Amino acid sequence: QKTKQDELKQEAAKKAALMVEPNSVLGVGTGSTVAFFIDELAKINREKALNLKAIVTTSNRSRAQLEKQGFKVNELSEVDQIDLTVDGADRVDLNLNGIKGGGGALTLEKNVAVNSKKNIWIVDETKFVDRLKGFALPVEVLPISCEQNFRTFSQEGLLPKYRLDDNGKRYITHYGNFIIDLHVDPIPFPNVLAHYLDSVVGVVEHGLFLNICNEVIIAHSDGKIEIRK
Ligand code: A5P
Repeated sequence: QKTKQDELKQEAAKKAALMVEPNSVLGVGTGSTVAFFIDELAKINREKALNLKAIVTTSNRSRAQLEKQGFKVNELSEVDQIDLTVDGADRVDLNLNGIKGGGGALTLEKNVAVNSKKNIWIVDETKFVDRLKGFALPVEVLPISCEQNFRTFSQEGLLPKYRLDDNGKRYITHYGNFIIDLHVDPIPFPNVLAHYLDSVVGVVEHGLFLNICNEVIIAHSDGKIEIRK
């Protein structure tokens, strides 16, 4: 059964699929909104062959869906530059800065994003906020120094919590690391926090995606599709 929110996600996904240029290199993100995007992309590809030069993606789940739809998927290291990446986000603010990593794939997501000429995010209206709030900030950390990182984050007042998996064990990322979610809400100065996290030894990557998104497609509950650049 599709919920109202699913319908909104699908509308945003449809719009993004129409923006994919033939013969381009495409990045495909992760999440339930992107799952709709992959289906829409496949539809368009059946109607008018897009002849995409290459596709890279940020999770095994998206890879499996793309391959099921008949697309060949490449590794990021196999492509020079990505023309466009379409991804979801957990939050996006008025400056198009966002929080990502709710699905735990932030490191690959950021690497794909920064190697893309253009990044489009697709969200339903619940994720579009005046400033970054309502979602804990994921930070991927190396197991060797995670306890030190956790203590430091606590002392800094960043309200850290280890992410747990379904069995109550520490969630392990694709790269064998842990995720510490910072429950700072709202994030008053995203640039300052990003700069700080970039400087912490043991932090592999964090979910603040600043100055990365070029366009956000927002599906509103009144049916309106808004594009912000
Ligand atoms: C994955 O790590 C995230 O960054 C996703 O892009 C984000 O969680 C969006 O997912 P949904 O489309 O399922 O909300």
